[in-house]
Amino acid sequence: ALSTLPRDLVTLGDYSAEQIGALVESAADFKRKTKYEGQSFHPDEPLKGKTIAMLFSKRSTRTRVASESSIAYLGGHAMFLGKDDIQLGVNESLRDSAQVISSMVDGVFARVGAHEEITTLAQYSTVPVVNALCDENHPTQILADLLTIWEVFGQRQEGSLFGVLKGLNVAWIGDSNNIVYEMLAAMPKCGMNMSVCTPSKYPIPEPIRQRAAIDAQKASASVTYCHDPIAAVQGADIIVTDTWVSMGQEAEKAQRMIDFDGYQVSMDMAAKGNANKDWIFMHCLPRKPEEVTDEVFYSDRSVVFQEAENRKWTILAAFNALFSKR
Ligand code: CP
Ligand code: NVA
Repeated sequence: ALSTLPRDLVTLGDYSAEQIGALVESAADFKRKTKYEGQSFHPDEPLKGKTIAMLFSKRSTRTRVASESSIAYLGGHAMFLGKDDIQLGVNESLRDSAQVISSMVDGVFARVGAHEEITTLAQYSTVPVVNALCDENHPTQILADLLTIWEVFGQRQEGSLFGVLKGLNVAWIGDSNNIVYEMLAAMPKCGMNMSVCTPSKYPIPEPIRQRAAIDAQKASASVTYCHDPIAAVQGADIIVTDTWVSMGQEAEKAQRMIDFDGYQVSMDMAAKGNANKDWIFMHCLPRKPEEVTDEVFYSDRSVVFQEAENRKWTILAAFNALFSKR
């Protein structure tokens, strides 16, 4: 399935379950070879002589570190261009920037604001474009989440990727944002059940729900929505949240602190709601204290640092598959 991937990775919604699975399996392979078998660079240097432009209009720790180091591993050059280096869509149109930049590099990894910015880059670029986060999607994050879930639940019960993923219950307690949208684009397709809880003021957009419902039906999974965290975590194997204030929403912080009252993930929430005995906690990071208690975040149930490290292996797999093609 790796050889059938679309040219770009804007959202996992554009990929089939098999294509998503092939990337996650490739990431597991890279992790084994590199971390446990000591292979310090890709023997074929698939990106030798190639440059990947990293256009970041927002801050990043994990995504940047994972991507620059992955490009080095693959033998290529990472050209980091932050928002003060080039002002995407400010000095010239995104369309023009896409055409110019892609005429000189072999791939583009871009962190932008509006979803439309990533689709414009993909449309007018002549080389593969991978989304490093936009306001609707974060595909490389959810690849890392799937790898982490496979590792954790596969260890408890040996099994193939989909054998492990199918039937797991994921509870999202938090904002209506890029992370849960990307989960909805990928997880139901993989046979995972989702229970999505956001404050009523922050609903999941209808088109995202519709697609998730279709994917879920095909994979015999379920997706439900509610506004009561206690009800939402019932039977959860995985409880996941994210910041209540995404990058760019800083001015809304005070209001959001009020709107998300009662949404902090805690041991008490999981107990009252009857989460499964061995539930785990996930968070894409960076974390703020309000959305999850320290007790949960630093507990044995929390796999957040394994999840963060897996950004590296999944980005490595995605870049190897997409940027070394041509
Ligand atoms: N999870 C994630 O994308 O983190 P960064 O914003 O630090 O890259
Ligand atoms: N929802 C967060 C995710 C950061 C990785 C944001 O967009 O800021």
